[in-house]
Amino acid sequence: MNKITVIISTILLFCVCKVASENKGWQEYLQDNSEEFHDIPLTWESGSNVPSWLSGTYVRNGPGQHEFGSDKRKLSNWLDGFAKLHSFKFNGDRVLFSGKMLESQNYLDSVAAGELVPQFTLNQFVNPEDDWNIFEKMKIFYKMMDGTAFDNFNPMVWRFGEANLDNGVFMAVTDAPAALRFNISDLSTMGVQMPARYPPSTTGCAHPLREPGTDNTINFMTKLSMTGTPYIEVQRYRPEDSFSEPQIITTFTPEKTSIVHSFSLTEDYAIIFMYPLDVDIMKIFTSNFHLFEAMEWDETEDTDVYIINLNDGDVLHLNADPVYSLHHANAYQVDEEEIVVDLCEHGHTGLSEYLRVDNLLQPPETTEWKFIEENEFARWRINLNTGKVTKQSFRNETDSIFANMIDFPMINENYRGKEYCYVYGVSLVDYTRTAIVKKNVCRSGEDKIWYKENHYLSEIWFHQSPNSTVEDDGVLMTLAFDGERKQSYMMIIDALTLETIATSYLPHNIPWSAHGYHFYEAQF
Ligand SMILES: [Fe+2]
Repeated sequence: MNKITVIISTILLFCVCKVASENKGWQEYLQDNSEEFHDIPLTWESGSNVPSWLSGTYVRNGPGQHEFGSDKRKLSNWLDGFAKLHSFKFNGDRVLFSGKMLESQNYLDSVAAGELVPQFTLNQFVNPEDDWNIFEKMKIFYKMMDGTAFDNFNPMVWRFGEANLDNGVFMAVTDAPAALRFNISDLSTMGVQMPARYPPSTTGCAHPLREPGTDNTINFMTKLSMTGTPYIEVQRYRPEDSFSEPQIITTFTPEKTSIVHSFSLTEDYAIIFMYPLDVDIMKIFTSNFHLFEAMEWDETEDTDVYIINLNDGDVLHLNADPVYSLHHANAYQVDEEEIVVDLCEHGHTGLSEYLRVDNLLQPPETTEWKFIEENEFARWRINLNTGKVTKQSFRNETDSIFANMIDFPMINENYRGKEYCYVYGVSLVDYTRTAIVKKNVCRSGEDKIWYKENHYLSEIWFHQSPNSTVEDDGVLMTLAFDGERKQSYMMIIDALTLETIATSYLPHNIPWSAHGYHFYEAQF
């Protein structure tokens, strides 16, 4: 019986009975860690086999600090933690590890004050009585007008500019319109990059994408017209474009605004799903500038689907059943008539409730291993002739609930916007039961799963083997936390078999973090 069979058999056992877990080390995994350190060489466990061709720099972004010393104004949503970058400079098995907090102005001011200074947060404070007074609210309003009320640049990183160290513009990005530039060598903060001041921008998107076959970035922002009507600007940043002056592919006025965190590209189209989840702009004031407290879900509304032609800017508007998703995995044009989009769906309370610190800190000890339909990973088929958008579930032949409930989707980036077969995702069940899933979207019977009790997994990066044309020939890299040892580690996995090939325990722990990107152009 090989390792994979053992793992899947273990999972099968979990599917038929309740399983109690000790959640070992979970509290330690969630401990803040704002320590700064630079270029520490990693040591690999014996038997590790790191591919000699691995190079470039992997950068991960995630919350590192939730408190500033004062008992007042403790942040209640994990994502409200202030962003910390970790980097791994690869040269085969010689890897240098660094960590540093992003030094946005609101972060620096809060450190200096020993307490959170006036700014937007996602949820209200742990103690609602700590909320902003009238003078502090006026300060936030002033910052809002100035575009500085929110500068916590969680949870993603991206490169604008050219694909080299001299002219690459490495940025921490979030769903706000601005971004924070950092130095990829020492992770120092280089300053906020703002979009053009007029027309004013209200939101951006934390998951820009590379236009297939190019080094261009495609993204979109919500802007306000002269009359205050929100509209969407779809943007193309060529390597020579500055952050404030992208090429505008098109603009359109959506039927409703929506909280949209990612989108899809095919070779000819951008596809934006606008869900019936939005922030009521007037409630931002009555909710004391806590964005998620002003969120509203309207299940009587459809999801609006916009298909934007990247070549001529034409926009097609279609409707789909109400759904919410944070992350698109990939999309492609099947033929002239049909586009498919693979979505990680979520309950609409996921952002505001799932990631509340008091929920995170108390994971259930017993898991019932039930499939949760609203967290399904599924395919949405868009028929351009009939205008119908329909959901199609993937079959699950593993009998494991992990297989069709994945998030943090990663693919072989060479297949972005093209017909493809593999998504690598993390399945998160009851917070602490976390698995890596290799999802075969072409043949559901060939899904593979990596799971270990009391090990807490996070987003993956896929590296394709050099000169290989096989989509899944390569290695996966992820950051995990060993609950038994109470220590973070980097793990490299054979993407073909899902067997671990290298492990390195890290000298500094990395708290639960969100997204990362491997910059091959950042060679040191
Ligand atoms: Fe995300």
